[in-house]
Amino acid sequence: MTTIALIMAAGSGTRTGLDFPKQYLEMSGETVLRRTVRGFLDADGIDHVLVVINPRDEDLYKEAVAGLDLLPFAPGGDTRQDSVRNGLEALAPLAPDQVLIHDAARPFFTPDLINRCLAALKDHTAVLPAQPMVDTLKSVDGDRITGTVDRDSVVAAQTPQCFRYGPIMEAHERFRGRPVTDDIALAELAGIPVQWIAGEAGNTKITTREDVKIITSQELTDIR
Ligand code: C5P
Repeated sequence: MTTIALIMAAGSGTRTGLDFPKQYLEMSGETVLRRTVRGFLDADGIDHVLVVINPRDEDLYKEAVAGLDLLPFAPGGDTRQDSVRNGLEALAPLAPDQVLIHDAARPFFTPDLINRCLAALKDHTAVLPAQPMVDTLKSVDGDRITGTVDRDSVVAAQTPQCFRYGPIMEAHERFRGRPVTDDIALAELAGIPVQWIAGEAGNTKITTREDVKIITSQELTDIR
């Protein structure tokens, strides 16, 4: 049984206001990318880690992962979906059984999340860590509120999104022209049943200027 973590790091992260991609931001003495990658290398049950990057960032990448034992990087594409497909294709020669697809910009997950994902993958083809909603959700039409969404019927999707390799590779190929924002959406399109498990409140994605301000203005305690 071969399990590979595919780390998505080919984005430019323009919403952060930084002049370089957010995965190369330093926090508590190491880059976001290095911390994310280490989380998978240190986890039980992960055989290899492959990072998908923008080849333009190769120097930043090499510096960020110096000394870590990784598969050769795969080049990203114009969209996250293209980047994931490139990464999955790069894994084909290794014929993995399972793949955990994770955003580099989520460095705060714990080993427990990986353990629970792998345990759930034993019985399911696709597994999504997700969080119940704490806020009340409203539907809108422009600046007008049109209704209240039943928050018990929705969850917020996180990564790693976890799959048997064959079915997700096939879904990516089959629906390559259909824009989606995560990999579970492709599993849905392909009719693959998806099991969700509890994510982690701390497993947030660094996305905005505010996120960057928070992680650079305070020395984070090591929560891993
Ligand atoms: O921009 P956003 O935060 O939604 O991106 C999620 C993840 O996907 C990031 O880790 C980013 O580096 C990655 N990505 C990618 N290739 C792209 C766009 C985003 O690997 N073309």
